[in-house]
Amino acid sequence: MGRKPLKKTSGQSKRKKQRLQTVRGMRDILPVEQPYWQKLKKVVDKVAADYNYNRLEFPIVENVELFERGTGKDTDIVDKEMFKFKTKGGENVCLRPEGTPSVIRAYLQHGMNSQPKPVKLFYRGPMFRYDRPQEGRYREFFQFGFEAIGEKDAILDAQMIQMAMRIFKSLKIKNVSLHLNSIGCEECRPSYNKLLISYLKNRKKSLCMDCKRRLKTNPLRILDCKEEKCMQVVRQAPQTVDHLCSSCKKHFTSLLEYLDEIEVPYLLKPQLVRGLDYYTKTVFEFFAEDDEGRQSALGGGGRYDYLVEVLGGPATPAVGFACGMDRIVNLMKENNLLPQAEQSPKIYLAQLGDLAKKKSLKIFEELERAGIMVAESFGRGNLRTQLRQANKIKAEIVLIIGQREALDGSVILKDMNSGGQEVLPADKIIKEVKKRLKKNAELLKKHEKKTRRKK
Ligand code: HAM
Repeated sequence: MGRKPLKKTSGQSKRKKQRLQTVRGMRDILPVEQPYWQKLKKVVDKVAADYNYNRLEFPIVENVELFERGTGKDTDIVDKEMFKFKTKGGENVCLRPEGTPSVIRAYLQHGMNSQPKPVKLFYRGPMFRYDRPQEGRYREFFQFGFEAIGEKDAILDAQMIQMAMRIFKSLKIKNVSLHLNSIGCEECRPSYNKLLISYLKNRKKSLCMDCKRRLKTNPLRILDCKEEKCMQVVRQAPQTVDHLCSSCKKHFTSLLEYLDEIEVPYLLKPQLVRGLDYYTKTVFEFFAEDDEGRQSALGGGGRYDYLVEVLGGPATPAVGFACGMDRIVNLMKENNLLPQAEQSPKIYLAQLGDLAKKKSLKIFEELERAGIMVAESFGRGNLRTQLRQANKIKAEIVLIIGQREALDGSVILKDMNSGGQEVLPADKIIKEVKKRLKKNAELLKKHEKKTRRKK
């Protein structure tokens, strides 16, 4: 005898009808998209290795206090956009909205401050912001970021920009513009703030509600409000760059000199202040234009010389940047930038002394422009450490610029296969490197042919 079919409960019929979707602002990354993500991750990891940055992974869930203190209680991402909750044990935690405070927390928690400076770290992974979702803006999105902790020289600021540009270039993303500003430090900002407040107070009526509040909490943020009426007011406002103390002025000038040296064009943006509280001196953003001429921020960063102290460590300067991976992938897809095979750098650039550092930036850029992959470490390593690094990455040629070479416009070329070295004029170096790489490639081909025949 057949069994009577079971009667469906109302819960069951409902279950059948409902097709569950991702939570608003969250997305699946499908297999067809993976090659773009893989390519991007590979390029980021490679640039990190070439510039000697080590990967750090930190938890997705952190204490709310980390971002309240680090990013700033009054910033949009902490005040309005954080995914916060209480654990069963009563801890106030959140999904990380950005990486920088976590990096510094980890740096202090694991005693990395006793390591030789700068400590160079990078990360990539998901971040969470409860913002209004739209094209290119998600509630779960991915970032990669680089942070250099413990070095105050503006060459590190330039290096951050150079790394980001190198990533965009490796991905063949064109028309990326660099927006740049300096927002001063504890020394010069208070008097600038006073000036700004007195300018804005007279125009308070024309500001949006948020900016009226910011006048008390964080007047600097009014400069980058996107409300048309605030933008109009701000256009004539006093500019931070005109009120920098001598140390900030010097820092900004040397950054501009470094950028000129490596021929990275920039747009000075007096209204750029960035939305996070920890920045001092340099702030920058990268913008790309899509087919319809819309601008979207691919990334941003700057110096944050007080954050380590704010999070309980000793006074330590630092600089970094992060980029939105989803936005970069969107651009890659739009422009049909399909992944290609990568190769590793065959040239290592070593330098000793301040002037040499400057000269080597220029040669680095020339090599890159000639399509030659090059690795370096612009930190403070001595020559032996740099040669060890060149060995580690199996560089074929090391170019060395010391104080003397920087002064007389020459470069020492060291052939890592033969061990021989010679001094060459700097303006002949690209040609010579090309010649030698070609010769090495031919020798390698011959060698491979020979070993194949033997087999
Ligand atoms: P940020 O400007 O807040 O900086 O974020 C960096 C990049 O992440 C943005 O330029 C954008 O490309 C991407 N991004 C931000 N929010 C979203 C979103 N909702 N959806 C998609 N992409 C988004 C920081 O996070 C700092 N931690 C950067 C830094 C590192 N400064 C110093 N070191």
